[in-house]
Amino acid sequence: MQNNPMKTPSITIKKSKGLGGSITVPGDKSISHRAVIFGAIAEGITEVTGFLPGADNLSTIAAFRAMGVTITEDSPTELTIEGVGLHGLKKPADVIDAGNSGTTARLLIGLLAAQNFTSVITGDASLQKRPMMRVVEPLRQMGARIDGKDGGKLLPLTIKGGKLKAIDYESPVASAQLKSCILIAGLYAEGTTTVTEPMKSRDHTENMLKTFGVDVETDETKNYIGYAHNLGAKNKVTLGKNRTLNGTAIKVPGDISSAAFFMVAATIIKTSKLTINYVGANYTRSGVTYILEGMGAKFSTLYTQTAQENTMDITVSASALKGIDIDGALLLLAIDEFPIICVAAAFADGVTRITGAGELRVKESDRIAAMANALTAVGVNVEETEDGIIIHGSADEDGLIKGGTIDSLGDHRIAMAMAVAGLASREGVTIKDPECVDVSYPDFFKVLGEVSQS
Ligand code: S3P
Repeated sequence: MQNNPMKTPSITIKKSKGLGGSITVPGDKSISHRAVIFGAIAEGITEVTGFLPGADNLSTIAAFRAMGVTITEDSPTELTIEGVGLHGLKKPADVIDAGNSGTTARLLIGLLAAQNFTSVITGDASLQKRPMMRVVEPLRQMGARIDGKDGGKLLPLTIKGGKLKAIDYESPVASAQLKSCILIAGLYAEGTTTVTEPMKSRDHTENMLKTFGVDVETDETKNYIGYAHNLGAKNKVTLGKNRTLNGTAIKVPGDISSAAFFMVAATIIKTSKLTINYVGANYTRSGVTYILEGMGAKFSTLYTQTAQENTMDITVSASALKGIDIDGALLLLAIDEFPIICVAAAFADGVTRITGAGELRVKESDRIAAMANALTAVGVNVEETEDGIIIHGSADEDGLIKGGTIDSLGDHRIAMAMAVAGLASREGVTIKDPECVDVSYPDFFKVLGEVSQS
């Protein structure tokens, strides 16, 4: 987040007697971004409900308004987007600012590379440190002309849009942002674009392109029989002939990445029983449920929608956890839940070892170092490794950790994860720079206060 002189310096989260009731978490961040991007380049009107009005998604809206797309906020969670078609975007008058949002930046770089104008894209201090060469390099192979800091490794980037040619891209990293960037550029490219990733990352782009009427073929459409089957397997996506998007209605489910904070809170705080309604149940995002169940958490799950993206109502009851080993293939399905999984591990009996998590070092913060430092500061026994973390369950006989003060480093998920740790701490957890939660869950602290008994 950018420095804001009015911001709240800190918040202290104290011990809770238990969580109860039922909540609905805000809309899925990844799906909300894609609804705006695809709605903007579709023919005709797209109506979005359940949109997440978090800072990241507002950056995406602002970018498209700057390129001449009319987007009406009928309410904070309901949008009407007047699509301009694949070739209707206009040159923005100013630099596009993606703020803190890696998804906005990387998906838009792919889109801008194919436009008939030059644009400049940047982001806040955190985003300016995050790697962009992973998207710049394949786009250059497609013929894109992109330049920027350090030869294009970092934002800001200048993108001279123009004609692109298709590629068969073998991605070295399982990243949905990279996959989506290439697929979006591929919508404009001459020839058939394919992306093969070493393991299947979240598939919201593929799903939503299909909803907008674009032909997309995935391995999964041929042989999907459940997440365990696909775990760790390569994934190939092919764009088909029809690449015109038609405006449609998009219902955004609740964000499982936001629900995860409440799932862990209700698990570790005795006497809790909490229901979280209408949570996205896409298996490429559901790793946190598989991991917590493996640790001994108790959920009951009711599937509530089976169109577009599936949804579920989850009821979580307090239960004892045990440490487990989590490898990179499983973690990929819970990539953004690393901070809150670390918190769950701090309350588990025994040791949790997370490996293959190197990507966590280039998120909104270096989340491996951030969680190692934050947990150490509140009395948890942690060892940081190059590509992961080892966490020794550190709760006392009452199921509490000591508590202390931590720095969120402006990273929304570090702030929310450590707030959950505070609910089960003797002395409370004080979080510096808590307003960064606006990125994905502006009402997080309010909702936490409502469901928690002090
Ligand atoms: C996202 C993909 C993931 C995730 C991010 C959102 C997306 O990033 O961590 O929060 O919406 O495509 P990577 O693609 O870098 O793994």
